[in-house]
Amino acid sequence: MNINKETVTSSERETENCGALLAQRIAEDKTLPRFVAMYGDLGVGKTTFIRGFAGIFSPAIVRSPTFTLVNSYRCSGEYSDVSKYIYHFDMYRIQSEDDLYSIGYYDYLDSGCVCIAEWCELIEYALPQNYIKVEILKTTGDPDKRIIKVNSIMG
Ligand SMILES: Nc1ncnc2c1ncn2[C@@H]1O[C@H](COP(=O)(O)OP(=O)(O)OP(=O)(O)O)[C@@H](O)[C@H]1O
Ligand SMILES: [Mg+2]
Repeated sequence: MNINKETVTSSERETENCGALLAQRIAEDKTLPRFVAMYGDLGVGKTTFIRGFAGIFSPAIVRSPTFTLVNSYRCSGEYSDVSKYIYHFDMYRIQSEDDLYSIGYYDYLDSGCVCIAEWCELIEYALPQNYIKVEILKTTGDPDKRIIKVNSIMG
Protein backbone atom coordinates (compact mmCIF):
# COMPACT_ATOMS: atom_id res chain seq x y z
CA MET A 1 0.00 0.00 0.00
CA ASN A 2 1.40 3.31 -1.02
CA ILE A 3 0.47 6.28 1.08
CA ASN A 4 -0.32 9.35 -1.04
CA LYS A 5 -1.75 7.48 -3.98
CA GLU A 6 -4.93 6.14 -5.55
CA THR A 7 -5.97 2.53 -5.97
CA VAL A 8 -8.90 1.24 -8.01
CA THR A 9 -10.66 -1.87 -6.68
CA SER A 10 -13.20 -4.03 -8.49
CA SER A 11 -14.66 -6.08 -5.64
CA GLU A 12 -15.35 -6.10 -1.93
CA ARG A 13 -12.43 -8.48 -1.51
CA GLU A 14 -10.00 -6.09 -3.20
CA THR A 15 -11.13 -3.24 -0.95
CA GLU A 16 -10.54 -5.45 2.11
CA ASN A 17 -7.06 -6.20 0.78
CA CYS A 18 -6.41 -2.50 0.39
CA GLY A 19 -7.35 -2.01 4.06
CA ALA A 20 -5.07 -4.87 5.09
CA LEU A 21 -2.12 -3.36 3.19
CA LEU A 22 -2.58 0.00 4.91
CA ALA A 23 -2.74 -1.72 8.31
CA GLN A 24 0.51 -3.51 7.56
CA ARG A 25 2.20 -0.23 6.64
CA ILE A 26 1.02 1.39 9.86
CA ALA A 27 2.08 -1.62 11.91
CA GLU A 28 5.56 -1.63 10.41
CA ASP A 29 6.26 2.09 10.28
CA LYS A 30 6.01 3.75 13.66
CA THR A 31 6.40 7.21 12.13
CA LEU A 32 2.96 6.93 10.48
CA PRO A 33 -0.08 8.36 12.29
CA ARG A 34 -2.16 5.97 14.46
CA PHE A 35 -5.46 7.51 13.33
CA VAL A 36 -7.19 6.64 10.07
CA ALA A 37 -9.98 8.98 8.95
CA MET A 38 -12.39 7.41 6.45
CA TYR A 39 -14.42 9.55 4.05
CA GLY A 40 -17.08 8.46 1.57
CA ASP A 41 -20.81 8.19 0.94
CA LEU A 42 -23.32 5.70 2.32
CA GLY A 43 -22.57 2.15 1.26
CA VAL A 44 -19.36 3.02 -0.57
CA GLY A 45 -17.19 0.48 1.27
CA LYS A 46 -15.79 2.05 4.44
CA THR A 47 -16.71 -0.86 6.73
CA THR A 48 -15.44 -3.28 4.09
CA PHE A 49 -12.05 -1.52 4.04
CA ILE A 50 -11.95 -1.58 7.86
CA ARG A 51 -12.71 -5.32 7.88
CA GLY A 52 -9.45 -5.90 6.03
CA PHE A 53 -7.61 -3.28 8.08
CA ALA A 54 -8.62 -4.67 11.48
CA GLY A 55 -8.05 -8.23 10.31
CA ILE A 56 -4.28 -7.62 10.29
CA PHE A 57 -4.39 -6.96 14.03
CA SER A 58 -7.31 -8.94 15.36
CA PRO A 59 -9.37 -12.04 14.60
CA ALA A 60 -12.51 -10.24 15.88
CA ILE A 61 -15.49 -9.92 13.57
CA VAL A 62 -15.82 -6.38 12.24
CA ARG A 63 -19.33 -4.98 12.13
CA SER A 64 -20.52 -1.47 11.65
CA PRO A 65 -20.71 0.23 15.07
CA THR A 66 -23.76 2.19 13.93
CA PHE A 67 -25.62 1.92 17.23
CA THR A 68 -22.74 1.67 19.67
CA LEU A 69 -20.70 4.33 17.76
CA VAL A 70 -17.46 2.57 18.67
CA ASN A 71 -16.33 -1.06 18.55
CA SER A 72 -13.09 -2.32 20.04
CA TYR A 73 -11.23 -5.31 18.68
CA ARG A 74 -8.60 -6.91 20.89
CA CYS A 75 -5.33 -7.42 19.03
CA SER A 76 -3.38 -10.64 18.99
CA GLY A 77 -0.67 -12.27 16.93
CA GLU A 78 2.19 -10.73 14.99
CA TYR A 79 1.27 -7.09 15.59
CA SER A 80 -0.13 -7.24 19.12
CA ASP A 81 2.78 -5.13 20.38
CA VAL A 82 1.77 -2.31 18.00
CA SER A 83 -1.67 -1.73 19.49
CA LYS A 84 -3.61 -3.45 22.27
CA TYR A 85 -6.97 -2.72 20.66
CA ILE A 86 -8.22 -1.35 17.38
CA TYR A 87 -10.97 1.22 17.96
CA HIS A 88 -13.51 1.46 15.14
CA PHE A 89 -15.81 4.50 15.20
CA ASP A 90 -18.88 5.34 13.18
CA MET A 91 -19.41 9.10 13.35
CA TYR A 92 -22.62 9.10 11.29
CA ARG A 93 -24.79 9.95 14.30
CA ILE A 94 -22.40 12.35 16.00
CA GLN A 95 -24.05 15.75 16.20
CA SER A 96 -21.78 17.73 18.48
CA GLU A 97 -18.55 17.60 20.38
CA ASP A 98 -20.57 16.62 23.47
CA ASP A 99 -21.44 13.38 21.69
CA LEU A 100 -17.74 12.78 21.11
CA TYR A 101 -17.00 13.33 24.79
CA SER A 102 -19.80 11.01 25.82
CA ILE A 103 -18.41 8.13 23.75
CA GLY A 104 -14.95 8.80 25.17
CA TYR A 105 -13.49 9.72 21.79
CA TYR A 106 -10.60 11.81 23.14
CA ASP A 107 -9.67 9.11 25.64
CA TYR A 108 -9.44 6.62 22.79
CA LEU A 109 -7.22 9.06 20.87
CA ASP A 110 -4.94 9.40 23.90
CA SER A 111 -4.75 5.64 24.41
CA GLY A 112 -2.04 5.34 21.75
CA CYS A 113 -4.00 2.51 20.13
CA VAL A 114 -4.77 2.47 16.42
CA CYS A 115 -8.11 4.20 15.72
CA ILE A 116 -10.11 4.13 12.48
CA ALA A 117 -13.27 6.17 11.99
CA GLU A 118 -16.08 6.20 9.41
CA TRP A 119 -17.80 9.47 8.42
CA CYS A 120 -14.97 11.85 9.32
CA GLU A 121 -16.72 14.49 7.19
CA LEU A 122 -18.81 15.03 10.33
CA ILE A 123 -15.98 15.46 12.84
CA GLU A 124 -13.30 17.36 10.96
CA TYR A 125 -12.96 19.79 13.89
CA ALA A 126 -12.02 16.87 16.14
CA LEU A 127 -9.43 15.08 14.01
CA PRO A 128 -5.95 14.74 15.48
CA GLN A 129 -3.16 16.87 14.06
CA ASN A 130 -1.67 13.97 12.10
CA TYR A 131 -3.76 11.27 10.49
CA ILE A 132 -4.11 9.05 7.45
CA LYS A 133 -6.99 10.15 5.25
CA VAL A 134 -8.75 7.42 3.26
CA GLU A 135 -11.39 8.50 0.78
CA ILE A 136 -13.51 5.98 -1.12
CA LEU A 137 -15.42 7.03 -4.22
CA LYS A 138 -17.78 5.22 -6.57
CA THR A 139 -17.21 5.53 -10.29
CA THR A 140 -19.78 6.08 -12.98
CA GLY A 141 -20.32 2.83 -14.81
CA ASP A 142 -19.16 -0.32 -13.02
CA PRO A 143 -21.13 -0.60 -9.73
CA ASP A 144 -18.38 -2.74 -8.17
CA LYS A 145 -15.53 -0.32 -8.86
CA ARG A 146 -14.17 1.99 -6.19
CA ILE A 147 -11.41 4.59 -6.18
CA ILE A 148 -9.52 4.59 -2.89
CA LYS A 149 -7.33 7.59 -2.13
CA VAL A 150 -4.90 7.34 0.76
CA ASN A 151 -2.99 10.39 2.02
CA SER A 152 -1.04 11.11 5.12
CA ILE A 153 -2.02 14.47 6.58
CA MET A 154 0.60 16.08 8.79
CA GLY A 155 -1.00 19.15 10.24
N1 LIG B 1 -15.06 -2.54 -4.89
C1 LIG B 1 -15.86 -2.60 -3.80
N2 LIG B 1 -15.34 -2.31 -2.59
C2 LIG B 1 -16.12 -2.30 -1.48
N3 LIG B 1 -17.44 -2.62 -1.47
C3 LIG B 1 -18.00 -2.93 -2.65
C4 LIG B 1 -17.24 -2.93 -3.86
N4 LIG B 1 -18.08 -3.28 -4.86
C5 LIG B 1 -19.28 -3.45 -4.31
N5 LIG B 1 -19.25 -3.26 -2.98
C6 LIG B 1 -20.42 -3.35 -2.08
O1 LIG B 1 -20.63 -2.09 -1.48
C7 LIG B 1 -21.09 -2.26 -0.15
C8 LIG B 1 -20.16 -1.56 0.83
O2 LIG B 1 -20.73 -1.63 2.11
P1 LIG B 1 -20.04 -1.05 3.41
O3 LIG B 1 -20.91 -1.43 4.55
O4 LIG B 1 -18.62 -1.45 3.45
O5 LIG B 1 -20.13 0.52 3.13
P2 LIG B 1 -19.96 1.73 4.15
O6 LIG B 1 -19.27 2.79 3.38
O7 LIG B 1 -19.38 1.28 5.42
O8 LIG B 1 -21.49 2.17 4.39
P3 LIG B 1 -22.11 3.11 5.56
O9 LIG B 1 -21.98 4.51 5.07
O10 LIG B 1 -23.54 2.69 5.62
O11 LIG B 1 -21.36 2.85 6.82
C9 LIG B 1 -21.17 -3.77 0.10
O12 LIG B 1 -22.49 -4.20 -0.14
C10 LIG B 1 -20.21 -4.32 -0.93
O13 LIG B 1 -20.55 -5.64 -1.34
MG1 LIG C 1 -20.04 1.49 7.40
